[in-house]
Amino acid sequence: MHIADFERYPLLFGPSPVHRLERLTAHVGGARIWAKREDCNSGLAYGGNKTRKLEYLVPDALAKGADTLVSIGGVQSNHTRQVAAVAARLGLKAVLVQESWVDWPDAVNDKVGNILLSRIMGADVRLVQAGFGIGFKDSWNQALEDVRAAGGTPYAIPAGASDHPLGGLGFANWAYEVQEQERELGVFFDTIVVCSVTGSTQAGMIAGFAGQDRPRRVLGIDASAKLAETSAQVEKIARHTAELLGLGRDLRDDEMTVLEGWAGAEYGIPVPSTLDAIRLTGRLEGMIIDPVYEGKSMAGLIDLVRRGDIPEDSDVLYVHLGGQPALNAYSGAFH
Ligand SMILES: Cc1ncc(COP(=O)(O)O)c(C=O)c1O
Repeated sequence: MHIADFERYPLLFGPSPVHRLERLTAHVGGARIWAKREDCNSGLAYGGNKTRKLEYLVPDALAKGADTLVSIGGVQSNHTRQVAAVAARLGLKAVLVQESWVDWPDAVNDKVGNILLSRIMGADVRLVQAGFGIGFKDSWNQALEDVRAAGGTPYAIPAGASDHPLGGLGFANWAYEVQEQERELGVFFDTIVVCSVTGSTQAGMIAGFAGQDRPRRVLGIDASAKLAETSAQVEKIARHTAELLGLGRDLRDDEMTVLEGWAGAEYGIPVPSTLDAIRLTGRLEGMIIDPVYEGKSMAGLIDLVRRGDIPEDSDVLYVHLGGQPALNAYSGAFH
């Protein structure tokens, strides 16, 4: 099957914009740095990478007669905020289990940013005490059960829409969108740099690019601080998605690279390189990135370019996956 054969419920404005980061490129010195903006991809609550994934889950939810999307994430989850937005757009309900994934002391952490937006959009937001993890949880099962008990039909969307049979398709489609934009721009991105946590963003890209003629590197930057788990997720989802797409060969290990070094000790806690990357990107480009995900992948990209691990003659594509609303809970990190 080709990606175009899968049913997709359109939620995006169209292809996400691609542009040069000229001042950042000059400052870092080396490869030409470009950005593709998943933070500017839709009119749904500031967008982000989950909207693209949800385009492929929505037809399944509707076919199953669901009236409530049930999902899970941390208190400042971008994913659950996008689920709330998609539910609103479709006229469905949303139940969101928000776990304490991050031990972050900001007094308004559970009141501002993503969780505020989900409340505004009418989601049933449930705060739960439980640590970082992306598997099936009791609290999530309970939420599904509650919907059924009230006579509703829930549709379960795992953390990051990742551990779902269709979770990799959104970014497999993205890989074809990039190919088309390269044709228009007359450029080839030999290296893609993307933040990885629950895995289906990078995994989808890998599966999508694997079906194209010209090889390139898709470098995941781990922001989970649990490299082994994130790598395993990426490999599992990439292989599954490649099989769905009928790739006809096994993916090689060297096609699935997740790098560590910029996550710090814990998911959700920015380290000095994260804050430096956020300030640098803001001051040179007016582009805003967040302290949980994109600040970490940008710190990785800057180091890889500086060290020459991404060669000087490369065109490297930084994938901006959204996530800025969480900044509101991190004011204490910026003085
Ligand atoms: C802004 C942002 N960047 C990166 C990621 C990581 O994507 P994935 O979970 O698909 O690996 C997420 C979600 O987890 C996110 O919200």
